[in-house]
Amino acid sequence: MNAYTRHLITAALPYANGPVHIGHLAGVYIPADIYARYLRLRGKEVKFICGSDEHGVPITIKARQLGVTPQDVVDKYHFMIKDAFERFGISFDIYSRTSSKTQHNTAAGFFRKLYDAGKFIEKTTEQYYDEEAQQFLADRYITGVCPKCGNENAYGDQCEKCGATLSPTELINPRSTISGSQPVLRETSHWYLPLDQYESWLREWILEQHKEWKPNVYGQCKSWLDGGLQPRAVSRDLDWGVPVPVAGAEGKVLYVWFDAPIGYISNTIELLPNDWETWWKRRDTKMVHFIGKDNIVFHCIVFPAMLKAHGEFILPDNVPANEFLNLEGDKISTTRNWAVWLHEYLDEFPGKEDVLRYVLCANAPETKDNDFTWKDFQARNNSELVAILGNFVNRVLVLTQKHFDGKVPPLKGLTDYDEATLKELPIIKQALEENIENYHFRDALKEAMNLARLGNKYLADTEPWKLAKTDVDRTSTILHIALQICANCSIAFEPFIPFTAQKLRYLLGESQTSWEMLGRSNILPEAHPLHDAQLLFDKIDDDAVDAQINKLHVMKAAKGAGAKATCEPQKSVCTFDDFTKIDIRTATVLEAERVPHTDKLLKLKIDTGLDVRTIVSGIAEAYTPGQICGKQICIVANLEPRKIKGIESQGMILMAKEPNGRMRIVHPGEPLANGATVS
Ligand code: 2FM
Ligand code: ZN
Repeated sequence: MNAYTRHLITAALPYANGPVHIGHLAGVYIPADIYARYLRLRGKEVKFICGSDEHGVPITIKARQLGVTPQDVVDKYHFMIKDAFERFGISFDIYSRTSSKTQHNTAAGFFRKLYDAGKFIEKTTEQYYDEEAQQFLADRYITGVCPKCGNENAYGDQCEKCGATLSPTELINPRSTISGSQPVLRETSHWYLPLDQYESWLREWILEQHKEWKPNVYGQCKSWLDGGLQPRAVSRDLDWGVPVPVAGAEGKVLYVWFDAPIGYISNTIELLPNDWETWWKRRDTKMVHFIGKDNIVFHCIVFPAMLKAHGEFILPDNVPANEFLNLEGDKISTTRNWAVWLHEYLDEFPGKEDVLRYVLCANAPETKDNDFTWKDFQARNNSELVAILGNFVNRVLVLTQKHFDGKVPPLKGLTDYDEATLKELPIIKQALEENIENYHFRDALKEAMNLARLGNKYLADTEPWKLAKTDVDRTSTILHIALQICANCSIAFEPFIPFTAQKLRYLLGESQTSWEMLGRSNILPEAHPLHDAQLLFDKIDDDAVDAQINKLHVMKAAKGAGAKATCEPQKSVCTFDDFTKIDIRTATVLEAERVPHTDKLLKLKIDTGLDVRTIVSGIAEAYTPGQICGKQICIVANLEPRKIKGIESQGMILMAKEPNGRMRIVHPGEPLANGATVS
């Protein structure tokens, strides 16, 4: 380890204009969390900072489309994103938001300091203005014909057909994507950070002093620097964001990419109002930014230039950006609905947070874009987590329970093979450390799994289950050693799969753990009591992953058709009396199974609060039994019973059918007592 006193870890602030998906988790938040957890386990002083990025044009456009305010949009997604991260165990010390007062003050103060020191240049240029929408247009919101290749849908900054970098005024027949009207050129003035003035300093700082940065990061920086840096505007004409704190700058806000990285600072201020400067201004703080590859220029060039211009802040020690994660062979796309959303995974695979953490780390896009497939997810769960780690721990605990009353048996002499096995522990520890400290989290995870592999091999070679009756001393030694390997696993896996590591510590009767114990063969003392064995992981069956693959395709098709889909017309009027005849109640699904020889039907055992009854429902195409079991739902309790496929169905489940035909169960918004009446 180096001589740093404290570690400031930041993870890219996700835009609060949609939920987060597996690409976010794999690219940024899991590696950052592994690093933070590892350092804390080593007893280091760590602050892990994140929050929502709540400004920028896309949020205003989404708000306009939905007929709500930008604040409504970010309020919705901020809490949704925060909740998903929490449930996945991403251990931020703070998750705040850039619409906060602290951020407004901090970002405005930062701008003002640079402004007063004469660090900006002010320029007046002509920019496209949408007269109908009454706003200046960001480059992305102008389309037109590409002057290079004739593509009719080129953007104001780039033609995606021929790859040409464009400026909006080069487009032939430009159109506003907001109103569809033809934009006009209007003069506007903005403040620019003259990046060209920082070029030689950046060349020295990155290309000479940070040759250790990941090749993808270093390479991208080099190509930006070799291409020559230009002044960058740090303000925009917009009414959503941090107002530019200069007289006469009404209607202008800080550019979202000037504002957002200052969010790292303001979130630290919120966390440590009296001590934040120690973290941001002392050179014995090691700052590391975890980001995706599309953020490299902002974190390696623009933000450091801002920090340098300000003069009081430290610079990042490293920016270990990842490449992108694809999904089932195709780019993850929010607009095409080709994504695995974290909030949906959490609902559909309850208790399996660590499985996704494991798979996304084992398959992380560290050096190149990688592909997530549901079949690989299943295979890694079944043949790695279940078959290697889970199986090893379970065998050791069951045998110890059976032959040694659930207490750590004593060592009764070591064979050469025992010693050779134990010698592997510190070697694995060292490899794990080196990999984590060099941001090679996939390789680090492999090392952790090598511990479980070592344990399995040790059991397979020594076969304690055969010796138990004939050689108690030898069995005692073998299980003692195997238990020490389990204890090593409970430490080594903590940064990667923390829920499982905690469960394992519970099973081993350990209360606390520290990284320094890793590699040792005396973590658990003789006679230390253990808890009864419980499985760490369950197999995932074909049905569960097939349903996910199917869902992806259905959702994508629904999105494609979505534009044309319309709501069903309103039904004819019913009287209030008609309505009150229907007895709608909250209830919980206790059991679910497919009705044999049907595609659509599930037979459900329901706790209605009044009784436990059977309902047959045509939801099997939308839900597997596993997905619906345990869920709270709403039912029509007094529907006349009827026989469906020979089974008496005593009620009906309330389902919502979207305009595109997709069926979803209607759940209460929060847990309620069963039998609550809905009116
Ligand atoms: O790409 C993104 O999702 C940006 N919202 C990341 C911002 S990171 C930082 F600068 F705040
Ligand atoms: Zn083109």
